[in-house]
Amino acid sequence: MITIENIKDRIKTIAESYSEEPTGGYITGDGPIPADILFVGEAPGKTEVEEGKPFIGMAGKTFEKYLNSIGLTRDKIRITNTCYVRPITIKEGKNGRTSVSNRPPKPKEIAMFKEVLDDEIALVNPKVIVTLGNVPLKRLTEFKSIGECHGKIYYNEELKKHIFPMYHPSSLTYNRNDDFLKTYEEDWLKLKEALETF
Ligand code: URA
Repeated sequence: MITIENIKDRIKTIAESYSEEPTGGYITGDGPIPADILFVGEAPGKTEVEEGKPFIGMAGKTFEKYLNSIGLTRDKIRITNTCYVRPITIKEGKNGRTSVSNRPPKPKEIAMFKEVLDDEIALVNPKVIVTLGNVPLKRLTEFKSIGECHGKIYYNEELKKHIFPMYHPSSLTYNRNDDFLKTYEEDWLKLKEALETF
């Protein structure tokens, strides 16, 4: 039987035995089990690892603002990541100082958590999975890019789940223009409408 304790133990074991690339800690998902809505992000950042919860750094603040704007709160939804470790790059500067930055998870880092995420989805048993950005999109659907499918609800035969692809909240930081903001905000309203049909 899958339990959340079992999922947490497996994340810990995988994270602690992985040494091929630098990583900066790991986290597990957060929120009620079961839950009707499961949001799946990319991978945790520094703040998330420090606090032990997904989406509480800068992207998390944006995420929560829009989540609240459609009448939802974090205690009503489950949120997790495609990769449970924080992928990092460590650079040695000429002055001897090291700098640490986030990087996208590598395919093998996504693959090593495949079964864990599948089991978390089974345990949470959501009516809708909302993918945030390209990483969970490619892991959980056949779509190649968020640009082609965002803001609509799809039924995924393989997972037997409804999937609603959204841009990652940090994309607002990279696309600072009114058109993108409008698209992003409209997608949240479309999510609200889609959720009303369940
Ligand atoms: N971005 C993600 O994709 N996941 C987090 O948990 C935080 C930021």
